[in-house]
Amino acid sequence: MIKLKNAQQLSEIQKSCDILSGMFAHIRKHVQPGVTTLELDRIAEEFIRNNGAVPAFLGYMNYPSSLCVSINEEVIHGLPSKRTIRAGDIVGLDCGVDLGGFFSDAAISIAVPPVSDATVKLLTVTQECLARAILAIKPGARVHDISRAVFSHAKANGYGVVKPYCGHGVGFAQHEDPQVPNYVSAGPNPRLIPGMVLAIEPMINAGADDIKDLSDGWTVITADKSPSAHFEHTVAVTASGCTVMTRW
Ligand code: MF3
Ligand code: CO
Repeated sequence: MIKLKNAQQLSEIQKSCDILSGMFAHIRKHVQPGVTTLELDRIAEEFIRNNGAVPAFLGYMNYPSSLCVSINEEVIHGLPSKRTIRAGDIVGLDCGVDLGGFFSDAAISIAVPPVSDATVKLLTVTQECLARAILAIKPGARVHDISRAVFSHAKANGYGVVKPYCGHGVGFAQHEDPQVPNYVSAGPNPRLIPGMVLAIEPMINAGADDIKDLSDGWTVITADKSPSAHFEHTVAVTASGCTVMTRW
């Protein structure tokens, strides 16, 4: 069931998004060679708690951390560890905030210099996929219009699209209905209505679509080990289109 949010609830969700945006502004300065992914996780958790909120991922389905850090061929759900960031890495950071039961969710991929042309293109196209998806969001459009916007732009650039993991409703919980696939699925295709809050999150591979789950129970990698990128915003459907509630 899709739960619509009223104006007061949207303003609470916006506060949650503002904390998450502040966290990204803060943490991105720390994405440098030599920093461990566990240090990044601590920076995220501390920022969120200092702002009176709780890291939404911590404990969700027994996830052990506040942040997902997915590097290079890691697509999503990379576990913070003693691994250090290195020059040339693509570092995906995914995080969520729970502010008194109001949830936000966002992700960015950051390239650590020196950055190859291929990396610039992958990150640019993945961000464009998200931007095109957001432009497709307006009352009367449907979930598949979002999916098509992501998929067609990725494929026009020769990239793989991750299918088993999707965008989703958000706001009252980490994951709500509807699912928002990054390809036009055979599944539900609800109409977009003002008051819906969605996490839109293209996961795009430089190589093929296929992914593999690592034996740590969380990390998802590309099957062909090609690099992958992930950008995500929490957005609200409005009467005239949509509002992007998170910022990086
Ligand atoms: N960030 C993921 C999403 O966008 C959720 C992470 S689940 C967790 O839907 F368990 F890793 F926290
Ligand atoms: Co999400």
